[in-house]
Amino acid sequence: MRIAVLHGPNLRTLGQREPAVYGHETLEEIEDQIRVLGHDLNVEVEFFQSNTEGSLLDFIEAASERVAGFVINAGALTHTSIALRDCLVGVGLPFVEVHLSNTSSREDFRRGSFLASVAGGVVYGFGPESYLLGLRGLVALVEKSSEKT
Ligand code: DQA
Repeated sequence: MRIAVLHGPNLRTLGQREPAVYGHETLEEIEDQIRVLGHDLNVEVEFFQSNTEGSLLDFIEAASERVAGFVINAGALTHTSIALRDCLVGVGLPFVEVHLSNTSSREDFRRGSFLASVAGGVVYGFGPESYLLGLRGLVALVEKSSEKT
């Protein structure tokens, strides 16, 4: 099984960006943890980060030919992007929405998500662990759906 893990805008600077909210770990360190878990779960993981909405859409379209699903931290696009939601629905693969911070305990504008209602599941508030829980959840979803077919 192959999974893509996507990071949206401003996640490249993790480690330096608002450490009180997002912690001190860099994106590279988080990806290393995801890679290790992927190995344990026998899943190949690829990563993509972009600050640009269109690049994320292009990546999702192209990757949908080779992956079984997505773990996505869309950053602020979570709260704004119908295009991203439409793209994820359009490719028809399961995905799990993840966030490092507890978006429900922050500003009101972070409470809404255009992705949550079409996601297989949502994990937020656990720091880097959100990605790991999200990957476990996605793998379980994909395995369950392949049992049915
Ligand atoms: C975030 C939460 C978003 O509201 C914010 O815009 C981010 C990071 C998180 O991981 O907690 O960029 O997705």
